Amino acid sequence: MSPLSLRGLTKSYGGQRVVDGFDLELEPGRCHGLLGPNGAGKTTTLRLALGLIEADAGTLELLGHALPAEAKLARRRVGVVPQVDSLDPDFTVAENLQTYGRYFGLSAKTIAERIPALLDFAGLAGKADAPILTLSGGMKRRLTLARALVNDPDLVILDEPTTGLDPQARHLIWQGLRRLIAQGKTLLLTTHFMDEAERLCDVISVIDHGRVIARGSPRELIAGHIEPHVVEVFGEGLDEWKACVSGLCRRCEQAGETLFCYTDDPEKVVAELEAAPGLRYLHRPANLEDVFLKITGRDLRD
Ligand SMILES: Nc1ncnc2c1ncn2[C@@H]1O[C@H](COP(=O)(O)OP(=O)(O)OP(=O)(O)O)[C@@H](O)[C@H]1O
Ligand SMILES: [Mg+2]
Repeated sequence: MSPLSLRGLTKSYGGQRVVDGFDLELEPGRCHGLLGPNGAGKTTTLRLALGLIEADAGTLELLGHALPAEAKLARRRVGVVPQVDSLDPDFTVAENLQTYGRYFGLSAKTIAERIPALLDFAGLAGKADAPILTLSGGMKRRLTLARALVNDPDLVILDEPTTGLDPQARHLIWQGLRRLIAQGKTLLLTTHFMDEAERLCDVISVIDHGRVIARGSPRELIAGHIEPHVVEVFGEGLDEWKACVSGLCRRCEQAGETLFCYTDDPEKVVAELEAAPGLRYLHRPANLEDVFLKITGRDLRD
């Protein structure tokens, strides 16, 4: 059974389709990533998948339950990290976990037993009695992550889980999320961090305007959409140099002051750069961000 199956999902706001015929079939024990520019419809899709809002059309099944009819029942085995933290500021860390756990019908004793491991997961050991108001933004985010696991869910839905976290905390959370996957849990996450998607996700759906525009493993997406090497060039004399390179790479794109040269043969481009000492460059393998920018464009959204 797929933990989450969405077919032909459609949702409009103010006459505009923000989710537009969206299909998704999650594989159990895998991590599926939704990538897309601001306003692409990621959060709306997750809210539909949780039965928090109703679709205009389409069929949804969450952990074997049809939505929206059985949404409450289905959500008992789901953990949720919303895009915006929703902790109770009047309570302490432990009290927040207790209150949240109670929604799932867990006893105070069961929750109390789970709290140390949850705080450990979030790097918040020793903070059980801290009032929410005394936590930093990153600590609150980590508590929201811990809270999502209080019911020991089979499926965890995470909307930008590590936004606002410092690099140390992100690594801690990635490690924790990988452990959940190893335990057989299914993850559905959105992120704007391409390295996060590349590390965690088995499959990625790139979405734009509420539609899936590319789907595959990180490697498949990179191999299928992008030349293997990128030379980023910037500095004095870029405009003059640009003319020399056009025949040497398959595709060149300028974003701001940087020229991205996509190529199979980076040595030729680098050799050409030797003759332009005013320019600086960075040669690197193509990554998911290159795919994302190629297929969703470089223009700002919202
Ligand atoms: N309740 C609402 N009423 C009206 N419009 C909405 C509502 N919720 C979302 N939208 C619109 O739907 C579109 C998709 O929004 P959504 O929050 O799903 O995007 P997103 O992909 O999660 O973006 P971000 O990366 O910025 O979080 C946006 O244009 C947004 O303005
Ligand atoms: Mg969002």
